[in-house]
Amino acid sequence: MNARIAILGATGAVGLEFLNLLAERNLPAANLRLLASSRSAGKSMQYAGTELIVEEVGPESFKDIDIALFSAGGSTSRHWARIAIESGARVVDNSSAFRMDEGVPLVIPEINPEAIGDAKVIANPNCSTIIMNMAVWPLHRRNPVERIIVSTYQAVSGAGQQAMLELESQTRDVLAGRPANPSVLPVQTAFNLFSHNTAIDETGYNIEEVKMIKETRKIFGAPDLAITATCIRVPVLRAHSESINLSFSGPMSESEARSILAEAPGVTLVDDRANNRFPMPIDATGKDDCLVGRIRSDASRNDGRGIELFVCGDQLRKGAALNAVQIAELLLN
Ligand code: A2P
Repeated sequence: MNARIAILGATGAVGLEFLNLLAERNLPAANLRLLASSRSAGKSMQYAGTELIVEEVGPESFKDIDIALFSAGGSTSRHWARIAIESGARVVDNSSAFRMDEGVPLVIPEINPEAIGDAKVIANPNCSTIIMNMAVWPLHRRNPVERIIVSTYQAVSGAGQQAMLELESQTRDVLAGRPANPSVLPVQTAFNLFSHNTAIDETGYNIEEVKMIKETRKIFGAPDLAITATCIRVPVLRAHSESINLSFSGPMSESEARSILAEAPGVTLVDDRANNRFPMPIDATGKDDCLVGRIRSDASRNDGRGIELFVCGDQLRKGAALNAVQIAELLLN
């Protein structure tokens, strides 16, 4: 990769994954600027065998930067995006700040790369939305999906680095007979699961569910797509799992769904009925591809238009940093 890149939120869970991905792409350390808040200013981080020092983000941070990768929360994005653009950078934003704004492309490179155009800010979708649609889009292209019913089993990494550390320390505490004492996530995570920690709106859906619904419609360019979601947090470190029920406009056999998904970019089939081996978050961890399996016809209908799937994807890779780096690569080409 040959560009000057700044990472805002370099010390966070997604920020660390940005460093891994950029090193894999041989971005020289001299082309990389690490930015965070004053809390982390001066901290040294390893990058491709070099030590880089984290700087506090400021008005001069984006001078000479081609692409700014933002993953420091919505309010930080809102504050710094305009300043980064005025400095001449293009921003790939991992927060939800701009995702639904008209004129801001919301992009999954395997689905809608053409949406980027000459936009200065490109929004990276919600992690559960990306992971679901890596499996749904290839099927939707062949046979339009009329309805999606999805239930998620989401890793704690989506709540940031501190939530991952909390799951580890809480698991040790509970095993040692000590109280769980949750502080980052609202309730005990170890040996438990709970409704996603985002706020519930007046309809009873939580914000994560609303994101999956609205963002999928925007990415697919299908404003009337029927979709409902139930989002659950589980004690898994960094890969999300999702059970997906699809209704198609026309018949879709399980063998057709399997052969479409076998060819789909960014997807690996894990569908071994004989050995009862299917996608698991532990196998998706650290992988670029999303794992798809449990492909079967929906037994609750007799018109051949329903398919069930199970998907696992690394929340920090395809769900966040990898998708953003793929967008950056599109910007550079
Ligand atoms: P810092 O280390 O200075 O707190 P995560 O989502 O894993 O919790 O990470 C959040 C990232 O966003 C961290 O790198 C954090 O930096 C950064 N961050 C949070 N708030 C700000 C802010 N106001 N300005 C700049 N960076 C911020």
